[in-house]
Formats: sequence, C-alpha cells, structure tokens
Amino acid sequence: MDWGMQNRLNQVIKDDGRCFFLPIDHGYFQGPTRCLENPAETIKPLLSYCDALFVTRGVLRSAIDADNSLPIILRVSGGTSMVGKDLANEEVTTSIEEVIRLNASAVGISIFIGSDYERQTLLNLSKLVNKCERYGIPVMAVTAVGKELEKRDARYLGLCCRIAAELGARIVKTYWCPDFDKVVDGCPVPVVMAGGPKCETEKQVFEFVYDGMQRGAIGINLGRNVWQSKQPVATAKALQAIIHKGADTEGAQEIFNQTKNNEDS
Ligand code: 5RP
Repeated sequence: MDWGMQNRLNQVIKDDGRCFFLPIDHGYFQGPTRCLENPAETIKPLLSYCDALFVTRGVLRSAIDADNSLPIILRVSGGTSMVGKDLANEEVTTSIEEVIRLNASAVGISIFIGSDYERQTLLNLSKLVNKCERYGIPVMAVTAVGKELEKRDARYLGLCCRIAAELGARIVKTYWCPDFDKVVDGCPVPVVMAGGPKCETEKQVFEFVYDGMQRGAIGINLGRNVWQSKQPVATAKALQAIIHKGADTEGAQEIFNQTKNNEDS
C-alpha cells in the first residue's frame, strides 16, 4: 500500500486496529438534528474519547477548531433532504481539491443498494474511489437505507458491504444486525458499525456494539446513540472501553454508571 494511503488509514484506525468515529454529518439531509443544533458545543466533551470525526465541509469550517482537530472523515455525498422525494438520489458534493485543501484523512459516501438510485450511487462511489486513490485518500462507503430501516438484515447488509468493497472502498460502514459475522466475513475490507436511531437504553447500545466487535467489526461510527444520550460523556467513555480496552457489556455498563454518577455529583 502506498505510504500516503497507509498513513491516512493509520490516522483514523488506531494501533490496535480499532476505531471509534463520531459522526456529526446528519444535518446534510436532516437539518438541525436534535442535540446537534450547535455541533461545536455537542462534541466538545466527547472529543477525548473518539478517534475521528465524520463531518461535512460546512460544519468542519464553522465548528471544528483547525488548530487542534481529530482526524477528519469528510462526508462528500448529498443533495437530498428528509422532506424531498427520495433520500437515495445523491451525488458527490465535494471536489477532490476541496478534500485535499481541508486535509481530510478519509472521505465518506453513501450507497443505496436496492433503491431506484442504486446504479447512480454505486457509480458515485466508483468515480470517487478513482479520484481519491490517485491521492492516497481512503474512501469509506456508507451502506445507507434511507427511511427503510427494516432492510437491515445480514443478507442485505452483507450484499451491500461486499459490493462496496468490490468497487474499491477501503472501509465500509454498515448497520449492526443479528448474525453480524456473516456481514463481516463476506467483506474483504474493515467494517465499522453505525448506530441508527437512538436505542431505548445505553445497555442496548453496549450490547450490540460488543456483539458486533466479537463478530469481527473493527469499530463504530456512532452518532445519535452517543450525543442524543442523556449521558453522552458516560456513553462515549463506555464505548471507548469496548472498542479499545477490551470491556464487555457489563464492564461498559459499570464505566457508564460510574462516570454518570461522577457527573451527577
Ligand atoms: C448519516 C450517517 C451517519 O454518519 C450514520 O448514520 C451514523 O450515525 P448514527 O449512529 O446516528 O446512525 O451516515 O447519514
């Protein structure tokens, strides 16, 4: 692997081969998502627990301190909204010059397999890989489902992840699902888990993250289940322990309780 590509991958995936990405890109189609109205305030207490931020160029420029930033994974697809006709109708929004100018460590792009825009979004990914590989910039493919959350099973997500890897993604981000090892085993590049809508309890989050890690994921890209939690710092600290410190679900819950109690007192 070329030095630049290896070096950028090493910025976002830590020495233990694992990663905790914090996505704050939701506004690109959801507008001012709950708890992300002011991204700079939301992420300030969380940064020390995470390895990289997943963010659009607009929020990067307006909310992230350039002097002291985590590595950046730049969200470079979009063009749709929650109130528009079809969330899948995305294009690439950000030029390769902008990606380089912003010193991104990686870029992220959604693909919508099985949608009316399958071909378009897969070609978006392929063309982006062609451009980014020239400059040693890793592409993370996001297997998106739009509003069709029920699609998230191992057969469908396994198909999406494999196709993303075949087209050149260096990392694939997908949803956790039961039998997650089937998704990971069919994907020749590292897989990270997204969270989806907020779970009812933090324990449910720790359970699926721990299960996914046991079944071969290298980490998480978890947004709403972190920063929409009533205890975002305790949640982030507990997740960091699962990802990087070998904690299981109970260990994570203990860290969560302890941190929450310290915060409350
Ligand atoms: C939004 C994204 C998010 O990065 C991804 O869905 C992870 O966030 P969450 O854990 O809140 O689902 O791609 O388009």
